[in-house]
Amino acid sequence: MEKVIEITGLTKRFGAGENEALIFDGADLTIEKGSFVSLTGASGSGKSTLLYMIGGLDRDFQGEIRIGGQSITGMNDSQLSALRSLHLSYVFQFYNLVANLSVEENILLPVELSGRRTKDYMDRLESLLELTGLTAKRKNLPSQLSGGQQQRCAIARAVLTEPEILLADEATGNLDRVSGEEIMKLFTRLNQEKGITILHVTHSDECAAYGNRIVKLVDHKLIDV
Ligand SMILES: Nc1ncnc2c1ncn2[C@@H]1O[C@H](COP(=O)(O)OP(=O)(O)OP(=O)(O)O)[C@@H](O)[C@H]1O
Ligand SMILES: [Mg+2]
Repeated sequence: MEKVIEITGLTKRFGAGENEALIFDGADLTIEKGSFVSLTGASGSGKSTLLYMIGGLDRDFQGEIRIGGQSITGMNDSQLSALRSLHLSYVFQFYNLVANLSVEENILLPVELSGRRTKDYMDRLESLLELTGLTAKRKNLPSQLSGGQQQRCAIARAVLTEPEILLADEATGNLDRVSGEEIMKLFTRLNQEKGITILHVTHSDECAAYGNRIVKLVDHKLIDV
């Protein structure tokens, strides 16, 4: 199987001297293409930090992180941003939609900002509106949507360019149980139908169970449970 994320000997600290906090201590993790991985672990153990490091947003670590076979250590900012736009997309707990743009305008925004032609993405837009159940809400503003619908809009925006890997940080953390389940079902379909590799952080056992693999951050290491 093709390895899309390979982490070896990852060591990460915040602070220095007596304020130093060890977050990772020689952690390893390999994620294969097409897998759906749930990442769990205590609050403050370093799950969000790991997602930032995978995207090269926090580069202050020892060890190696390879994305799509390429080591991100030693990449400059423009190489990293090219790698991100080719391979990675993020979804967060708070949806970060633009308040004065409609659902479909929000979904198309990253394509527009990157200078690509939105026309080329119309078929994918239709298919994602359908998949996320937002077709009837396409002209609505985020404030006119439920939390679950706003998160589904944010996910459609994240996958419009068909990234290889979707990194989600507590995407259901702000939602009720039913809306959370809808998000997990959407992740399952994106994984199975579009082949997107998913690494999602969750505090919920129910949400974690949707993954085909559960990894726990414990004692500064990443272990399969
Ligand atoms: N920029 C920073 N400077 C110093 N310490 C930090 C910084 N960012 C995070 N930390 C610390 O690193 C540890 C890991 O934080 P992180 O946000 O990755 O945890 P988490 O597992 O995502 O927690 P939660 O489940 O609550 O979201 C925490 O103790 C946090 O206080
Ligand atoms: Mg976190």
